[in-house]
Amino acid sequence: MPTFKIAIIGTGHVGLVSGACFAEKGNIVICVDNDIEKIEMLNSGRMPIYEPGLDELVERNVKASRLSFTTEIAPAVRASEIVFICVGTPPTPSGQPDLSYVEAVSREIARNLDDTTYRLICEKSTVPVRTGEHVRQTVEKYAAKNALFDVASNPEFLSEGTAIHDTFNPDRIVIGVSSKRAEAMLRSLYESFNAPLIVTDINSAELIKHASNSFLAMKISFINAIATICELTGANVEEVARGMGMDRRIGQAFLRAGAGYGGFCFPKDVEAFIAVAESLGYRFDLLKEVQAVNVAQRDRIIKKIEKELWILKGKTIALLGLSFKPNTDDVREAPAIYIARRLLEKEAIVRAYDPRAIEKARRVLPTIAYCADPYDAARGADCLVLMTEWDEFRHLDLTRLRSAMAQPIMVDCRNVFDPAHVRALGFTYSSVGRP
Ligand code: UGA
Repeated sequence: MPTFKIAIIGTGHVGLVSGACFAEKGNIVICVDNDIEKIEMLNSGRMPIYEPGLDELVERNVKASRLSFTTEIAPAVRASEIVFICVGTPPTPSGQPDLSYVEAVSREIARNLDDTTYRLICEKSTVPVRTGEHVRQTVEKYAAKNALFDVASNPEFLSEGTAIHDTFNPDRIVIGVSSKRAEAMLRSLYESFNAPLIVTDINSAELIKHASNSFLAMKISFINAIATICELTGANVEEVARGMGMDRRIGQAFLRAGAGYGGFCFPKDVEAFIAVAESLGYRFDLLKEVQAVNVAQRDRIIKKIEKELWILKGKTIALLGLSFKPNTDDVREAPAIYIARRLLEKEAIVRAYDPRAIEKARRVLPTIAYCADPYDAARGADCLVLMTEWDEFRHLDLTRLRSAMAQPIMVDCRNVFDPAHVRALGFTYSSVGRP
């Protein structure tokens, strides 16, 4: 199996997981990040993010000398055949992603190219269509004359919490290229991955990523809108989703009604795609509605709590789950953080528990009470709101939970519990789109 020398620039979720997985396949990988603290952490064997299985994967590959971490971009590029750009593309107030990191990294890469060694510069960060063209022009401007390189796009589809499995077993691998040489290199890099390969032009590859994330966000908003109709009619959204999903053209995935989508990808990417379309002269109003439904879905949670408690001032609310989804400590754009802020605005007292995300939540939300376990969070609460469907919440002792609370009221924003069971235990219970 052919292996490559790879530089990964940007050691966030995508960069770190991809780097470790490429190393596991036998490639020699250098991960670069300008965050000294992060690189020191990684070099001392600690992970900057929680991702199941990542610590062992990193440890194994560092020991085997296939994976290393540095803050120095120049030697990493010079030592590599493929350079992946995995830096952040955070949102700006206009909605357009901030591409200044991609641009800065492109210049740095350019300065380390030469006319004897061919290097493939490959975007993995989620970027607007045509970014590849800008990267190529930038590299051409700053590189030595006759520098040997190509630019390619290879968007990443891993999800947090299942990132390693997703990387090794993706539904598809998308490669956007403008030369046969780049295509051959990426085909060979991915040869041992168990997935169909789509080879296309760079613009299409970039669009596949934004279109896929936006489409999935649209599916979630769609089912959340249906959940609202279910609540108005007494129908059950889970039955509706099951019935819809059995149509293979629709599919079961991403039809779970809940607290709305969060995380660092969907909210940012939908916003970016709207802004990118707008700058190209197309008004993507469909996606604006996807966003509006998502915001409304969160506000409906507050309304559900108010329906039970009327006035929230002075009431104690227990939040179970703070991360935007289970199996991650990521709280960026997490529905739970939004709800906690709204509750604080209404002068409620918030007690929260999460199996992994408390440390990160504390940084953005220092003023709520963080609790040792779910029962501690429930202590004296007038209402318990389940925000993230961590597995450990499915196995709670509900009788113990109820007896810790001042009022046995539960709002289950992820439809984790069986309504009949919870009500039989004495709870006043509401969930999403279920009678
Ligand atoms: C998402 C995509 O699923 C990945 O394919 C993509 O690579 C990634 O963004 C990215 O662009 O980096 P991720 O944000 O990790 O991955 O998480 P998802 O599993 O997609 O969940 C996103 C949000 O949607 C979560 O808040 C989740 O709770 C919510 N969701 C998901 C629902 O409310 N209902 C569903 O049926 C599914």
